[in-house]
Amino acid sequence: MGLEILEPNTCIRGCCTSRKIPMHLPPPCYSLSQPIARGAESVVYEAILDGKRVAVKKPILSTSEDIDKFHKELQILCTLDHWGIAKLVGAHAKPPNYMLFFEYYESGNLARKLHVDEWSPSIRQALEITARLAKTLQYLHNLGIVHRDVKPANILLDIQLQTHLTDFGLAEYKKNLKLVSTENWKSTGKPTGGFHKRNMVGTLIYMAPEVLRKEIHTEKSDVYSFAITVK
Ligand SMILES: Nc1ncnc2c1ncn2[C@@H]1O[C@H](COP(=O)(O)OP(=O)(O)OP(=O)(O)O)[C@@H](O)[C@H]1O
Ligand SMILES: [Mg+2]
Repeated sequence: MGLEILEPNTCIRGCCTSRKIPMHLPPPCYSLSQPIARGAESVVYEAILDGKRVAVKKPILSTSEDIDKFHKELQILCTLDHWGIAKLVGAHAKPPNYMLFFEYYESGNLARKLHVDEWSPSIRQALEITARLAKTLQYLHNLGIVHRDVKPANILLDIQLQTHLTDFGLAEYKKNLKLVSTENWKSTGKPTGGFHKRNMVGTLIYMAPEVLRKEIHTEKSDVYSFAITVK
């Protein structure tokens, strides 16, 4: 995108860093237009960045946990580079603006495409979506990352209807999830587009039985949500 990277290219806390993605996009290089989606935790805008159409996710920050969550999402996004994952192209990771800039996916999310636009994919298209999503999850799981909110609303479609997994707001490293046991399980947070209680997160109808039973959330729980998504 030809955007300048200013050193030190880290978030204000120093926990998110990247060699390719600018962390401090200055206001003159972007302009936000209308919101595309409003959730309990963020508003997503269409915008122009460096002359190109992008989507900007602006979290609603009302508690320090919300800020922690923004940093975790950015940290994870900075480590990802895969054709099946929505591409982060920039961020603003210090006050007063916390924002994530993504490539724009013209055909919206899969839930809307299926249930609002009443798209009926051919068998070939359904198989392609399934294979792409499976490979994307395999990539994530090989990195030790569990998405924890796999569902059609978090799968974006480009102009050729190719899938791009998005919304890493609940994603976590598997090694950190092991630290949470049913004994120290504590309810936190607020209901989101999904459902969020520390180690019980996701969206109810896509949640694996072990997540509903408040046991550990592993990559297998993502595979369960994947199966419900593509069935
Ligand atoms: N890069 C993008 N291109 C086009 N549309 C997008 C993009 N990113 C997000 N959207 C739209 O915004 C919606 C919400 O995005 P996302 O799931 O990342 O935000 P969220 O606040 O975590 O939402 P929720 O709480 O509802 O899950 C998507 O379902 C999609 O319709
Ligand atoms: Mg979402």
